[in-house]
Amino acid sequence: MADLDDLREGNNFSNEPVSNQAFYLKGSDNMDWGMKDRLSRIFRPSTGRTVMLAFDHGFIMGPTSGLERIDLTITPLIKYADCLMGARGMIRSNIPANSNKPICLRSDAGTSILTELNHNVLIDIQDAVRMNASAIAVMASVGDTSTEAITMANICKAVDAGQKAGIPVMGVTAVGKDMVRDARYFSLASRMCAENGANIVKTYYTEGFSKVTSSCPVPIVVAGGKKLPELDALKLSYMAINEGAAGVDMGRNVFQSENPGAMIQAVSAVVHENLIPKDAFEMFNDLKS
Ligand code: R5P
Repeated sequence: MADLDDLREGNNFSNEPVSNQAFYLKGSDNMDWGMKDRLSRIFRPSTGRTVMLAFDHGFIMGPTSGLERIDLTITPLIKYADCLMGARGMIRSNIPANSNKPICLRSDAGTSILTELNHNVLIDIQDAVRMNASAIAVMASVGDTSTEAITMANICKAVDAGQKAGIPVMGVTAVGKDMVRDARYFSLASRMCAENGANIVKTYYTEGFSKVTSSCPVPIVVAGGKKLPELDALKLSYMAINEGAAGVDMGRNVFQSENPGAMIQAVSAVVHENLIPKDAFEMFNDLKS
């Protein structure tokens, strides 16, 4: 039973309103507390940026190089990432549940590289709740005649469900065979995700990238894309950050690197410490030796 002796009445009150600080991520100030809490697990409050480690590639392409054994290749990198982005089956079967890392859960699934990409259905938000996801990631295939409407409908449904559960949605802009990868396309696709309620947008770096970031009201993270020489991937990260990205959601350029641990640390130094590519590459070489 609670101790009823010496109950002390509080007397230190004031009518001064609780100080209201603006939330540090763009476009997020009017969100609910739970949304902000989850976003602040993904984006470091000290820098407003994130290094998301993406390993969801198998959901369309199977066991690609570097992801043959996620327990052996991704688990050792967890400590260097701010957030893990993967599909539920691989997270459940491979990632230690006591890693205490926020996850951005791939929450749509459908066709593979063998057929036509992006004919996707949405996964029940309840699974994201069960997995304590800090965000869910859903593809938006803007510009592709056969999948544009269905994937935008997925974004809208994910946002509806995410709002109810307090889980932010990351709109993932697709790139396809026939899609032009320029700033005009990526700003259109990113803006469509944000207009439909996505709280984060993942897109690709391109020439004129500041148009993409400045026309999108919510934080943008860039994918790394296909494997590049390490220095080039660090340059890409640096340019993206300098042109307004709030971080990276990087996969192949980390887990297919000759030294993934050194690479993710170098990328993180670019993202969070503004290290220039030359110094980050030196850091990569020092760490790998
Ligand atoms: C693409 O939809 C996948 O979700 C990947 O997570 C994404 O492309 C990031 O990986 P990468 O840096 O290898 O492009």
